[in-house]
Amino acid sequence: MEAPVRHEPVMLREVLAGLNVRPGGRYVDCTLDGGGHGEAIMEAASPGGALLGIDEDVDVMALARDRLQRFGDAVAYVHGNFRNVDSICRERGFSPVNGVLFDLGLSSHQLASGSRGFSFRVESPLDMRFGPEVEMTASDWVNDSEEQELADMIWHFGEERQSRRIARAIVQGRPLRTTTDLAKAVEQAVGRRTGSQIHPATKTFQALRIAVNQELASLAEALPRAHGLLGFGSRLVVISYHSLEDRIVKQYIQRESRDCICPPEQPVCTCDHKATLRPISRGALMPSQEEIANNPRSRSAKLRVAERLAA
Ligand SMILES: C[S@@+](CC[C@H](N)C(=O)[O-])C[C@H]1O[C@@H](n2cnc3c(N)ncnc32)[C@H](O)[C@@H]1O
Repeated sequence: MEAPVRHEPVMLREVLAGLNVRPGGRYVDCTLDGGGHGEAIMEAASPGGALLGIDEDVDVMALARDRLQRFGDAVAYVHGNFRNVDSICRERGFSPVNGVLFDLGLSSHQLASGSRGFSFRVESPLDMRFGPEVEMTASDWVNDSEEQELADMIWHFGEERQSRRIARAIVQGRPLRTTTDLAKAVEQAVGRRTGSQIHPATKTFQALRIAVNQELASLAEALPRAHGLLGFGSRLVVISYHSLEDRIVKQYIQRESRDCICPPEQPVCTCDHKATLRPISRGALMPSQEEIANNPRSRSAKLRVAERLAA
């Protein structure tokens, strides 16, 4: 890994309150990264607490090992995709648990890396994979996809209105080797909005990262699996950073908080569905203005908390 960059854990107080961390509790951090949230969880869960941390990125997990070293065997580190959170925990006898945390997306360590290709601010090859087992890199997407496929991906995962124009520019500019090549191609296609602080390639980079790592599919698979690990009264806490992720979380919690999920036009319930979650707050929690001022990365965060009910 390159130069040490500090990743400030987002909405830390709200995460600890949301998880209701207690001494002796067992927690799963599905996005361990450098262990910012993990460390605070272990401090609040000590004595007697335990943490199982998962990350797809081995490099950042090395940072977590250093940071959490003082907790010894009470912390388990698992390199893997959180979509397998249930098997990862069960294989290690780590179930039921008192809380599961997801802090989605990528960290400051990954953004700052000069080899991972996550940021248009840092010249680097177009990779964007969280882990080496991910099959397609951003370069494969950018240089080998059909124009229509690229446009659809940028539209769906970036919610980018100029997706067609950007896809055309990418295809015409091939081969694109680096983050700078891609950022320039997008900027030439759509220009910069006068006065806007936001780089025109922001949404294209988001879309590519989501597509490369199949982030939305992983999240949709992970939520029910994490839910299944919770003991009664235990908590699920998710921080998301864009509306596509937040919609998946919100709809999942809403659905699992209802006793009937039959279509509204159906007069008699036939689904047998039982509510097994209870949302803890009305709507999503957001960071305070003070936190946003201190850590601008937190500005798009939305945190949702749900508690496991007896079925
Ligand atoms: C925002 S960072 C977490 C930061 C951490 N909470 C902290 O405070 O230090 C998100 C992390 O999730 C990891 N990640 C993203 N998707 C993943 C997945 N499907 N499975 C496992 N890890 C994933 C990324 O590699 C990254 O390290």
